[in-house]
Amino acid sequence: MNLIDLNKIAVAMAAPGKGILAADESSGTIKKRFDSIGAASTEDNRRDYREMLFRTDEAMRNSISGVILFDETIRQNAKDGTPLVQLIKDAGSIPGIKVDKGAKGLAGAPGEKITEGLDGLRERLNEYYELGARFAKWRAVIDIDGSEIPSGYCIATNVHALARYAALCQEANIVPIVEPEVIMDGDHDIDRCLDVTEFTLKSLFDELYAQDVALEGTVLKPNMVVSGKKCPTQAGVSEVAEKTVRCFRAAVPAALPSIVFLSGGQSDEEATAHLNAMNAEYADKMPWALSFSYGRALQAAPLKAWGGKPENVAAAQAAFAHRAKMNGLATTGEWSDGLENVA
Ligand code: 13P
Repeated sequence: MNLIDLNKIAVAMAAPGKGILAADESSGTIKKRFDSIGAASTEDNRRDYREMLFRTDEAMRNSISGVILFDETIRQNAKDGTPLVQLIKDAGSIPGIKVDKGAKGLAGAPGEKITEGLDGLRERLNEYYELGARFAKWRAVIDIDGSEIPSGYCIATNVHALARYAALCQEANIVPIVEPEVIMDGDHDIDRCLDVTEFTLKSLFDELYAQDVALEGTVLKPNMVVSGKKCPTQAGVSEVAEKTVRCFRAAVPAALPSIVFLSGGQSDEEATAHLNAMNAEYADKMPWALSFSYGRALQAAPLKAWGGKPENVAAAQAAFAHRAKMNGLATTGEWSDGLENVA
């Protein structure tokens, strides 16, 4: 492990004005996204769609520090034969790779999940490094349902797996993104999300320490502290910002350079407004850079504008460039509602 190199990459992933494009939808998830616009999820269509994003020069050069890829994409060539990884590198962005094999039912814990993918991971990481990946991602899923879910068992097994994955990444000179996602789909209030997120993060950093993972070469990809989607009382932007920052200050060590949020089902503008509020109001209280690693909140607009039709590529690229720019501004607290409307 070369910790100096790992640290440089971890810092670059949340450089001011920049964040990550999560384009690592699994085959099942990308099919769902394509179904929503009436496009067929063929290998060529998936390639064309992702190539369109990676060729959005304005977004890639100015606002996107790195791209998380799915196994198929890291091996794919653009229509003209250039490897997609090369397009990303040519735009000054860093290629990354999703390496988990998805969340499956956790034995003995109905309604809870454990992320699989550790077997053979060392070999896969070495291959991904050769293919150009300099960071990786592993997502753990923590559901909230009533007072019994999540169980301590679910959190303990998931953070153990996250730490095993992270240690293997660093051995392969790949920066691990550790992503313990507390799901926002329930009817719980924001304080329940705060409690579960804080407990999960504290458990995660205990386990990273126990397994000798160097935080200087690690990136955290958490959920924000928000109200469950079905909760009758929805916390506003300043409450989300205050509680998220409070939670991280209590649970995330200062040695970690970068935190990049998932969007998790927030609307595009909510995800931007929340990130902006944290950076605008709490910059002097945070030892880490706070940025984005959005899937849906970066891609919903370009996906819709594209609609699977080649004649819409320019409009889709404009939509992507706009969202990337807005989120880039949110990393330095310089975004405002007015900028959305001007566009
Ligand atoms: P969302 O931003 O759509 O939540 O996706 C981010 C991601 O990579 C989930 O693993």
